[in-house]
Amino acid sequence: MFRSHTCGALRLADVNKTITLAGWVQTIRKFGSITFVDLRDRYGITQLLFAESLNEKLEANPLGREYVLQVTGIVNERSNKNTNIPTGEIELLVNDFTVLNKSITPPFTIQDDTDGGDDLRMKYRFLDLRRQAVKKNLELRYAVGRSARNYLHEQQFMDIETPFLIKSTPEGARDFVVPSRMNAGQFYALPQSPQTFKQLLMVSGYDRYYQIVKCFRDEDLRSDRQPEFTQIDCEMAFVEQEDILNMFEGLIKRIFKDVKNIDYTNAVERMSWENAMWTYGNDKPDIRFEMQLCNLKFPSHTFPSQKDISSLISGADFKVFDEAETVIAIAAPGCSEYTRKQTDELTEWVKRPQIGMKGMVYIKCNADSSFKSSVDKFYSEEKLKAIAESCKAQAGDMIFILAGAEERTRKATSELRLHLGQILGLRKIDEFKLLWVLDFPLFEYAEDDNRWVARHHPFTSPKPSDIEMMIQNNPVIENAAEYLKHPYASIKANAYDMVLNGNEIGGGSIRIFQKELQQKMFAALGMDEHEQQHKFGFLLGAFEYGAPPHGGIAFGFDRLCAILGGSESIRDFIAFPKNNSGRDVMIDAPSTIDEKQLTELEIKLNSGS
Ligand code: AMO
Repeated sequence: MFRSHTCGALRLADVNKTITLAGWVQTIRKFGSITFVDLRDRYGITQLLFAESLNEKLEANPLGREYVLQVTGIVNERSNKNTNIPTGEIELLVNDFTVLNKSITPPFTIQDDTDGGDDLRMKYRFLDLRRQAVKKNLELRYAVGRSARNYLHEQQFMDIETPFLIKSTPEGARDFVVPSRMNAGQFYALPQSPQTFKQLLMVSGYDRYYQIVKCFRDEDLRSDRQPEFTQIDCEMAFVEQEDILNMFEGLIKRIFKDVKNIDYTNAVERMSWENAMWTYGNDKPDIRFEMQLCNLKFPSHTFPSQKDISSLISGADFKVFDEAETVIAIAAPGCSEYTRKQTDELTEWVKRPQIGMKGMVYIKCNADSSFKSSVDKFYSEEKLKAIAESCKAQAGDMIFILAGAEERTRKATSELRLHLGQILGLRKIDEFKLLWVLDFPLFEYAEDDNRWVARHHPFTSPKPSDIEMMIQNNPVIENAAEYLKHPYASIKANAYDMVLNGNEIGGGSIRIFQKELQQKMFAALGMDEHEQQHKFGFLLGAFEYGAPPHGGIAFGFDRLCAILGGSESIRDFIAFPKNNSGRDVMIDAPSTIDEKQLTELEIKLNSGS
């Protein structure tokens, strides 16, 4: 028997038992003739005490950091207890030990507070994974997966694998491609998601499908994106949007309960896409805090149902506002005492290229109900008061106003809102707020090609009330500058995103299931019949054999874990992640392949590569 217990198991109740442990040497401390060692395994850390009698053996078999050790000894109550770890009340009085394997000096200390930088830890990820902090993240990931599987199993979902070597699935990113040796000159694409397969499974009658599955997307990476990531991918037949929302609210609440012991009893809030853009400037708003946008001026066709209040700011001869397409304000609670330095810093922040504004106007709503602003020259106290009222600002608040082109200004104000939320401590990592965003536009305008692209993917159905509008109108955009006035710009989709604390954790839709409407959709995206057949002939064909109404959703598994674990980066929750250039620096991939492999695949590289 290698070990009788693990390094996390022993307690006061075990005192006087003779036991055997095996693990890695984390630290060695010598006190006179006594040696203390912290022995670590997956389950925890146990303190070992080597008495003087073992010194001779220790000299013959010296220990070092990360050595693999087997020890036998007697459990002893510690005089100096450590309340920070579960085994802190005991130690093991070592009788005998065996060095099972040696280790060279590790490149960084393998403890929670490590001295290793990101790059080094990525290169030696197998060592980084020994750290308790990283292990905790993987344990959380495992718990989320297990909870999801239990729930979906209970709801009669069936886990069905779908292939990785497929034909391109359009999810809006570039494909990773794999050359085929047996079909030289031809390529598979790795799935950006199992989208078309899960729909085919509905046509096959499987009714409720799920899979925790790898997806591959060649896109620019950020802290919440990896080139290969995992989805909890689901599809259901004979459902309406409401059925799906209820089913997956259930899933996420179950995960909250199982993993975080949170009873999320409230119904998940719902918001239309238009409302989210209007009140938060963002289609994945963080609703843990208010600070809603006040739209002082906006192009009427973008929000046709909203009231125009631009008279509040017009006619004052303030060119910045008069010439701007959009002017949006937000009231930051309790910030009226901000110093000049603080407002200057915030102004510099919005001027950074990532935010891209030219400047920022402020109005201080003083505690004595007077106002002071950077535009006092143009606006009377009366006017400032009226603006403050529209912004629902209270005495003691500071209003920040941005002006410029619609898209940029809306995005910038949304970013500023999040930034202020962060500064003011309103984005608490232990508070979780879910939101469904509904009624997305079906199409998005692709400026470069002057055509429509699917906002979600081409299998998403339009709202039933908008189908006629889609069929009756020509998708061609005659006037690029006024694309927003094209009827297609206002077609809404039967699509939904689940948002958690300002992150899109899942997205899905009710699908098109009639061949004719699917063809119409492909045509609207600029695909002629030949291209439709070449790319999606299999799906159009399947729709001729009795496709049921169906819909589904996919959750970003890594993202969900990161948020539940209170981290910004999904990398921390992936055992072997890629770095920001899409490289696995541990195994050094991607890398070149040898000439023989290239020849077999009939691939010639451009010279110089
Ligand atoms: P979508 O493209 O919205 O939908 O993806 C679903 C969820 O996956 C996560 N996600 C990512 N996570 C990490 N790295 C990435 N590169 C990445 N890209 C996406 C997000 C997102 O909400 N087939 C559809 C689903 C459906 O319609 O049923 C799909 O893939 O959290």
